[in-house]
Amino acid sequence: MALLTVKDLVLGYDSQAIISGINFTVNEGNYLCIIGENGSGKTTLMKTILGLSNPLDGEVLFGDGLKKNEIGYLPQQTVVQKDFPASVEEIVLSGCQSKTGFNPFYSAKQKQLAKENMEKMGITDLAKRCYRDLSGGQQQRVLLSRALCAAKKVLLLDEPVAGLDPIVTKEMYSLINNLNHSGMSIIMISHDIHAALEYASHILFVGDDLFFGTKEEYLQLSKETL
Ligand SMILES: Nc1ncnc2c1ncn2[C@@H]1O[C@H](COP(=O)(O)OP(=O)(O)OP(=O)(O)O)[C@@H](O)[C@H]1O
Ligand SMILES: [Mg+2]
Repeated sequence: MALLTVKDLVLGYDSQAIISGINFTVNEGNYLCIIGENGSGKTTLMKTILGLSNPLDGEVLFGDGLKKNEIGYLPQQTVVQKDFPASVEEIVLSGCQSKTGFNPFYSAKQKQLAKENMEKMGITDLAKRCYRDLSGGQQQRVLLSRALCAAKKVLLLDEPVAGLDPIVTKEMYSLINNLNHSGMSIIMISHDIHAALEYASHILFVGDDLFFGTKEEYLQLSKETL
């Protein structure tokens, strides 16, 4: 069975559908890019996968022993989050929270995991700094380290390069690509179709003409419809 199977999903709010008929699967090691216009329902789809939002219809099935709290999530940044008054270390550690349950203290193992993920993302020297004083690129690395504390097999990224300059964007893509090559399945929302076609194995287009398939199938279809 696939890690994730999305079946006939209908998304919306207050019984009002935004998008219906979403079907796709994610297998181990896949890199799925979700593209589509503003307001098409991409973030809602991610929240539905995480169980933070309820679908109007259809289902999201987990396979291969995947549990909901083993999925790492980097949310779409809001102005409020950019002003968060906590240290880098605290924010990264909070990614371990789903494993602590009601225990407010972090174990030595969780602290070690946070340390390793900060090293992976090259932000060890920022550990004591206040999150809101960091640059946009540094903040995204912090949030990626945080997401990695939860991610066992799957990482969901909602526009991870929004607002970053071209060099930092490339660095971010390269970090994500390395994670994918080390076995992590990636589901990334992006408005950057060029990057999607460079890195992704699969494409999901959310909009009036839904599309799901491999990158090669997407390219073939684009050629035919041009
Ligand atoms: N909590 C909510 N309650 C009601 N409507 C909502 C809620 N969240 C989102 N919406 C609406 O649902 C639609 C889809 O929103 P969503 O955030 O999923 O879009 P998106 O594809 O992620 O857009 P963007 O590219 O701008 O991030 C929008 O019309 C939005 O206004
Ligand atoms: Mg969004």
